[in-house]
Amino acid sequence: MKGIILHGGHGTRLRPLTHTGPKQLIKIANKPMSQYVLEDLRDAGIIDIAIIIGDVYPEKVKEFYGNGKKFGVNLTYIYQNKPHGIAHAISLCKDFIGENKFVVYLGDNILRTGLLSYVQKFESSSKEAQILLAEVENPSAFGVVKIKDNKILHIIEKPKEPPSNFAVIGVYFLTPKIFKIIKQLKPSWRGELEITEALQLLMDSGFELDHDYVTGWWKDTGTPNDILHANKLILESMSIEIKNTDGIFIGKNCIIDSESKIIGPVIIDDNCVISSSIIGPYVSIGKNSFLKNCQIKNSIIMDNCIIDTPIKIINSIIADETEINSSESKESTYLLGERSKIML
Ligand code: DAU
Repeated sequence: MKGIILHGGHGTRLRPLTHTGPKQLIKIANKPMSQYVLEDLRDAGIIDIAIIIGDVYPEKVKEFYGNGKKFGVNLTYIYQNKPHGIAHAISLCKDFIGENKFVVYLGDNILRTGLLSYVQKFESSSKEAQILLAEVENPSAFGVVKIKDNKILHIIEKPKEPPSNFAVIGVYFLTPKIFKIIKQLKPSWRGELEITEALQLLMDSGFELDHDYVTGWWKDTGTPNDILHANKLILESMSIEIKNTDGIFIGKNCIIDSESKIIGPVIIDDNCVISSSIIGPYVSIGKNSFLKNCQIKNSIIMDNCIIDTPIKIINSIIADETEINSSESKESTYLLGERSKIML
C-alpha cells in the first residue's frame, strides 16, 4: 500500500503563523504536525509516500523531510499549484499510485491510535474505499455521513443541516478506481473538487463504502484553539505512553534554576534556559529559548524565543525567534508569527 500526505492549502485561519511556512509544519509538542502523519503511515508499514506540496513555501517542506531516509520512508514530492481541493490533489498522484491501494492522510489531522489496524483491514478488504468516522459536536464543519443499520447511505461536505454527528476524518483508504470517479467531479460551492463528493459518486456507482469509528482522540488542527487543544492531548498521551508520571520532558543542555517551577505536562526542547518562571501545565517550549520571570500556561512557544516579562501568558502560540520584553504583569493571550517583537 502507498501513502499520500496533503501538505498544500493556504492555512488562512492560522495567520500570522502561516505567513512564513505551510501550516502542516507548525510544531505541536515540538514536532511538526505532518511528522505525526508521516510516522503514523510509516508505523503502519507504508513507506512509499507522496507529499502534495502547494504554493506556501513548498521548499520548507522539502528541506525538512528531504528524501525521507532519516524518517525511514521514501518520499516523492508532487506539486499542486493552487488548493483546488482534496480530490484534485489526489488526482495528481495517479502515476505515483499505479495499481496499488493507498491511504490519503491530511497533513493537519492528528490521530491518537495510529493506522495499523485500519491498514490491515483495508489490505485484506474487497471494498474500493474505507473511511474513518468520529463523533463531533460541530458536524457542520466537516464531511458528515448519514448512516443506517451501520451502513453509510450518504456523505456530504459541511452540511448546514447535518444528518448525523459523525464526521469523516482526514484519512481515506482508496483504490485506483477513485481516479476515474474524480474525473467526473465539478468544483463545489467552495470551488474545490471534494473528496466527499467523489466518495458519494463511488457509492452511486454501486460500490459500498466501508467505515470504522476512531478510538481515542482525533484532531483537525484548523484553528489556533485546535492547535492548543492538540498540544494538550499530545502532552497528556505522551505522559501516559512513556509512563512519565509528572509529565515533564526536558531536552539536552537545559538550565532550569531552583526558583522556577515546572508543572506537567510540559515539554522543553534542547538548550533552553529558564529562570524564576512558572511553566505549565500544557506548555511546549522549542529549542534554544530563554525564559525569565514569566508564567506560561496552555501555550506553545517555538524555537529561539526570548521571553522576559511578568505577563501571565495563557492560551498563546508564539512562533520562532519572537521576543517579549515587558515589565507589565497582566494576563495576556498572543498569536505571534515568526520574529515578532513585543516591548511594553
Ligand atoms: O479534517 C477532516 C475534514 O477535512 C473532513 O471532514 C472534510 O470532509 C474535508 O473536506 C476536509 O475539510 P477541511 O475544510 O478541514 O479541509 P482543508 O481545506 O483544511 O484541507 C485539509 C488539508 O488538505 C490541509 O492540510 C490542506 C490540504 N489541502 C487542501 C486542499 C483544499 C491540500 O493539500 N490541497 C488542497 O487543494
